[in-house]
Parts: sequence; structure tokens; C-alpha cells
Amino acid sequence: MCGIAGYIGYRKSLPVVLESLKRLEYRGYDSAGVAFFDQNGGVRLVKAKSRITGLEKKLNGFSAVEGSAVIGHTRWATHGAPNEKNAHPHSDCSGRIFIVHNGIIENYRSIKADLIKRGHQFISDTDTEAIPHLIEENLKSEKNFKKAFDAALGRLVGAYALAAFDVLSPKNIYIARLGSPLVVGLKKEECLVASDPGVLSGKFKKVIFLKDGQRGIINLNNSVFYPKSLEISRLDSDFKSAKLANFPYFMLQEIFESPEVIKSALQGRLLKNNVKLGGLEQVADKLKKIKRLKIIACGTSYYAGLLGECFFEELAGLPSEVFLASEWRYKKEPREPQTACVFISQSGETADTLAALRKAKKEKYLCLGVVNAVGSSIARETDAGVYNHAGPEIAVASTKAFISQAMVLILMALFLRQLKSKSIPNNIFEELDGLPDKIKSILKNHLRIKSLARKHLKRRNFLFLGRGYNYPAALEGALKLKEIAYVHAEGYAAGEMKHGPIALISKNFPTIAIAVRNNGTYEKILSNLEEIKSRGGPIIAVATQGDKLISKIAGDVFYIPAANSFLEPLLAVVPLQLFAYYFGTLLGYDVDKPRNLAKSVTVE
Ligand code: G6P
Repeated sequence: MCGIAGYIGYRKSLPVVLESLKRLEYRGYDSAGVAFFDQNGGVRLVKAKSRITGLEKKLNGFSAVEGSAVIGHTRWATHGAPNEKNAHPHSDCSGRIFIVHNGIIENYRSIKADLIKRGHQFISDTDTEAIPHLIEENLKSEKNFKKAFDAALGRLVGAYALAAFDVLSPKNIYIARLGSPLVVGLKKEECLVASDPGVLSGKFKKVIFLKDGQRGIINLNNSVFYPKSLEISRLDSDFKSAKLANFPYFMLQEIFESPEVIKSALQGRLLKNNVKLGGLEQVADKLKKIKRLKIIACGTSYYAGLLGECFFEELAGLPSEVFLASEWRYKKEPREPQTACVFISQSGETADTLAALRKAKKEKYLCLGVVNAVGSSIARETDAGVYNHAGPEIAVASTKAFISQAMVLILMALFLRQLKSKSIPNNIFEELDGLPDKIKSILKNHLRIKSLARKHLKRRNFLFLGRGYNYPAALEGALKLKEIAYVHAEGYAAGEMKHGPIALISKNFPTIAIAVRNNGTYEKILSNLEEIKSRGGPIIAVATQGDKLISKIAGDVFYIPAANSFLEPLLAVVPLQLFAYYFGTLLGYDVDKPRNLAKSVTVE
């Protein structure tokens, strides 16, 4: 995980790197650090167990020598506690080599043990620190830094994106990529390397996405990359940077963006009762032959995938199965003919999803992407796909991205239906068009959700129930509450509740149930809720407007507009997201950056 940045140029380097790190904080924010050549002629290493603003305060009064290398890091701890000692950059015994790293060095223990035997002294508990010591060791027999650097990388097993400098050549940054993303912006008298193209947007039009196994030495005059074959890409203007506008947190702002996000997903894609998906048209012939789908993702994107399974089966008649990327990548299963894989990822960089994609490509599956981050690794490596166009999502807990992923999956299912020459009923288009207004009407009532959160604020356990399309929405509601409010919550298929969780029900263990009308199992879920009620469990129901029965069973009800069954989860999830938001903020937490989490999980 973690975000790295490195800069050499004519502008004030420290602010450039700090600004870049701020844009990378979504990748981890438990500690941060920079290394640079200071005006006194030495290298200064400054670290803080804080977010970038804390590091910035520590750097007040410092400046870097113009045109010399600066590298920086924002950390999500993997090996070693989040503290200053373990924060990057890391160095060797002599203080000659400084390095920042994103990824995991899997064989660091044996390398470290070997180096300790040779007299190296380690000060951190990280895997990363093995790298500068390994380079230092190589420099004993090899005078050329590049060769020592390459030899060290040759011994590493695992994943890395890294940037390093050698004190003896202040005008070079050595970079390398294997598994973790790295992108370089180059122009006259300036180069910036970072974990994410978003950092380069607005500053560099032409960029180089390093491929796995590629390395480089970047500087002001003659940057080199090896092995060659590096393509220059144009950085689209899609990398908008998000700003907080009249909301206390990005999470709330992003929930309120949901109606717009749906409109953006639909824009230009519904034409005269036809679904047009430019990204899939190029593979339409291949898609016509597809008989099954595998959907692969992590976290909230996996829950969107569970919805996708229902959409593809019901709307397109395609048998589908959903897998957690971290499981599927190691699964030993026979290759299935006439099958395509759909990879869902907000960031487009999740390590497990990316690894699963690479496995699927090796097995020659047609690979499709549902990705929000334009130009990300998954977007670039899939054969075809559909962008969410939801705009940047800043809050670590995904909200608007889930809604837009669900929307895109519906469109994909309808597109696949068309390919089978099945028409799409007119009312579906009307329903899709009407969805943003229905969400707006839910958002208008957000203070009602706040009062429900306040009422149940003392509870430390919640059960979330849903059936059919609303089961994934219940899972997502529970995940949000765990992530944001640090409250235990379990999402369950309502019918399964009697096979275990019912044992937990008590007056202190509330159930939040999605009990909407069009689900086809409305009566069944009412019976499940009766079972809970008769055992004294408090019930908060998300129900359909006009439902007179539900208030006789549930102690609290939040009403949402009626909708076609496959659109109900997109409505039902909104009050659940708001509930988690208010629960977390009422408890005083920073809901945009919950503890221990990161927005983009680039390690296994
Ligand atoms: C992390 C984030 C989640 C996200 C998941 C998958 O856990 O905190 O919000 O759903 O990664 O990320 P992706 O970018 O692949 O959708």
C-alpha cells in the first residue's frame, strides 16, 4: 500500500512533493516522511507519525536544493507499527542511499538475516529497509550505483514501486516497478514520479506508466528507462481534483453526489431505448458468444459484484458467479469455455483484483473492467470496459462509487441482453431516468437518519438483513458501519438469520432490515422480522413509501420511494450509508479517514 512521490525540477521541490503526497493520502495515512538535500549540503530525513499536514509542520523553515532529488512517502503499515522509526524513507548503514517503497518484499526476512550476519544494522521493523542495505552491500563489490541497484532488485520477491536516490548523485532518482503502480511525468527541466497519475494531472500532459519489471533513472536532462519500450501516454483531463463544498466531510458530500453520479453513468448511454456502451462495442462479437460470466472484485466493489450477478442473470439471462479477488487469484479451477470475466474496481489499482485480472488474461478469458479511476492499471489492462465517470471518490469508505458501479452493471446487463436480440421493456428506461430524483427525495430526509443514529448510538452490535437484490445492500450497510463507526455489524441474508444470528438477538442488538415491497419476498422478510420482534430485538426497517403494515412490526421505519425490484438496492443503500456516516460523526470520528484503512489497497 502507501503512496510514493519523487521530484527533481526548478520549482520549490518540497512543496511539490508534499502536495503530491496529500493527493496520495487515500493510499494510507498513518505516517509520512521525506528525504532531500538541504541547503547545508547534507541530506535531511524528516518523518512524522501523522498525516501530511503534520509532516508539513515539521518541515516548516526547511527547503531543498533546487534541481536535486526529493523523495516522499505516505504510509499504510504492513510490516512494523505505524511510528516514526518505521516511516519511510529508509536508508542504509552509511546514510548514502534513501528509498521510498510501496508494496511488500516477501523474502525480506532471509535477506535481512543475511545482511545482519554481514554486519548491517537495521533500525526499523519494515520489509523495505532490506533494500537500501542490499544496495549498500552490493556497492562493496560494484562501484556503479545503477548496477548495485539492479542487482538488489534482482533478489527481491514480492511487489514494489520504489524511488531512491544516492547521496553521491543528487540529480538522479532511481525508480522501479514490479506489481505496484508507478507513473512518471517528464518535461523540460522537471520530472515527477508518483504512485498515481492523478498526482501528475494539471502539471504534466505526457506521462509514462512504468510496466512491470521496468526501471529508470530520472533527472533534468536525459532520463533513461530500461528495458526500453516505454510508451508515452497523454494524461486526460479527467483527473479532476475534488474539493469540499459546503459539507463537513467528503463522505457526506459523496453520498449527496449520488443522483449526479447516476446521471453521469447514464449520460450518452441510453439512446432511443437502446443501451450504447462504446467501451464494449469493440468486443461485441466476442460477447455474443459468451455463455457465462465471472465477476471478480474486493470490498465494496465485491458487493456491487453480487448485485451484478443478479442483474446479469435476470436482465441478460447469463449465468454469473462472483468471486473475491483474493480467493479467485489462487483458486485451482478448470478453465471455463465461453466465459468472460468482469473486474470491478473503484481505484483500478487493488492488488488482488489486478493479480486476478492477470491470471484471467493468462488463461485467455475475455476481461472486462468496471473502473472509476481513468487510466488506472485495471482500466488499462482489461480488454474492454466501462468507466463509472463518478469523479474522484476521496472518503475512504466507498459510497457513490458503489451506486455508480451498480448502475454501470445494470447498463452492461442490458447491453448484453440487446446482443442476444432481446428488446428492453420501455418502463426500464423510464425507471432509470427517474432514479436520481428518487435518491434526491431520500437525501432530503437525511436528518431523520441522523436522529435514528442518535437514538441507537449506544448499541455496539447491529444485524443488517436483506433478501434478493437487497442482500448485497445489507452487506454494504454493515460494512459501512464497521468501517466508519467501529461498531460491529453483520450483514445477513434475512432467510439465513434463523440459522445462527437469531441467537444473538436481544434488546441491545438492533436489526436494520431492508423490507421493501417489490422484492418478491416482502412477506417472507416480514416473517423474519416477526421472529426478531418476538425475541425482543429492536428493528429499524427501510421500507417502501405507503407501506402501512411495517410500522406495526418495526420500532423505527425509514421510507424510500417504490422502484422496480432491481433498482431497489440503489435506493435502499443510501439510508444505510447515511446511518453509518451519522453514527461515526456523532461518535466524533474522522469518517473520511477511518483508522487502519486505506482507499486503495495495493498490497495483498
Ligand atoms: C478498500 C477500500 C474500499 C474498496 C476496496 C476495493 O478496502 O477501502 O472502499 O471497496 O478497497 O477497492 P477498489 O478500488 O478495487 O474498488
